[in-house]
Amino acid sequence: MTRRKIRFGIIGCGLMGREFASAAARWCHLLDLEVEPEIVALCSGHESSFEWFQKNLSTIEQTSTDYRELLANDSIEAIYCAVPHHLHERMYVDTIESGKHLLGEKPFGIDQKANEAILEAVEQRPELVVRCTSQFPFYPGAQRIVDFGRMKKFGDLIEVEVGFLHSSDLNPDKPINWKRVIATNGEYGCMGDLGLHVLHVPFRLGWFPHNVRAILSNIVPSRPNAEGESVPCETWDNATLLCETASDSSSFPMTVRIQRIAPGEMNSWYLSVKGTQLSARFSTKHPRTLETMPYVSGEAQTWRSEDLGSTSVYRSITGGIFEFGFSDSILQMIAAFCDQINRGPKAELPFGCATPEESRLQHSLFTAALESHHEKKVVAL
Ligand SMILES: NC(=O)c1ccc[n+]([C@@H]2O[C@H](COP(=O)([O-])OP(=O)(O)OC[C@H]3O[C@@H](n4cnc5c(N)ncnc54)[C@H](O)[C@@H]3O)[C@@H](O)[C@H]2O)c1
Repeated sequence: MTRRKIRFGIIGCGLMGREFASAAARWCHLLDLEVEPEIVALCSGHESSFEWFQKNLSTIEQTSTDYRELLANDSIEAIYCAVPHHLHERMYVDTIESGKHLLGEKPFGIDQKANEAILEAVEQRPELVVRCTSQFPFYPGAQRIVDFGRMKKFGDLIEVEVGFLHSSDLNPDKPINWKRVIATNGEYGCMGDLGLHVLHVPFRLGWFPHNVRAILSNIVPSRPNAEGESVPCETWDNATLLCETASDSSSFPMTVRIQRIAPGEMNSWYLSVKGTQLSARFSTKHPRTLETMPYVSGEAQTWRSEDLGSTSVYRSITGGIFEFGFSDSILQMIAAFCDQINRGPKAELPFGCATPEESRLQHSLFTAALESHHEKKVVAL
């Protein structure tokens, strides 16, 4: 089978730009897909960041420090954009207006106003595929919980807990970077940086908060800059949101815990659903394990633990007994984006990337969470 090539430009050649390129480079892992990405152009704030790409990819035809040069290149069909949050609005809107498909990084605009401008541009170009990243739901354990939700296996929902315990910032001597500065990361702090990751599945299953009471914490208020001087670090490190949430059949509490400072944790993304008929929980801390507890009247209530192996949304060559990891989730997410381009923006996929509408819901929740924290009250959405 010859796969149709989708010619990509990458804007932002940092941590995530490299993850994208590395996933595209091992496309041979995937079976069945009719399309494949080909990275032909790069844009970054610094020319030095092109070096790694040029060393590892033979397909680069264009590099520039001005993203508009990539947008003016008619041979590029799609853009992956991974830049600091204050640049999302301008670059995403310009990309969409240039007629290219866009996989943009979260939070899809630094704040609600920026997100609205991006969504307006999306509305003007319905023929384009515009999606937001969120790779953790592609883990096999998360997918099983998505399936339970779609098949209404939980019964009435008792409680949902979702969270991302990132934890890279416990060390107060860790130098500040753009993700810890309001002007570049945004007022949401850790919520903007990490939040859509945890909300993608609840939103996809139709679980929307009606109101929120948020407690936000700035635990390390100053950090050293590159010169070693102590400077203010004003972004929220941790956020705990208690949301009254509704599905089509019940109302239930959902706790959203987003933490940059979670002692002992490292990139633990989790999802736990308790229902009257079935409960299920999964965490990337134990990436191959799904825990479930079906309720059967008269029987002991016992959690059971199942090793999942390497099942995936898009079939791959990986042996079924092997483990699924972070880079597999990125590969699966990009496969979903390319598959969406191939099938068209409205096509139903087995599991698609986060949508602009889901990014809008995320912004409503985080804007309400800021108000809730400042006013110390419950805020309706
Ligand atoms: N999906 C995930 O798991 C995940 C993880 C980390 C970050 N992110 C998101 O990815 C995005 C980028 O984060 P990162 O960690 O890759 O950041 P990074 O700092 O590693 O890279 C940012 C890149 O943007 C480039 N850049 C800055 N200004 C530019 C400009 N004017 N024109 C072109 N390029 C410019 C920089 O040169 C750099 O290459 C953010 O939206 C962040 O929230 C997602």
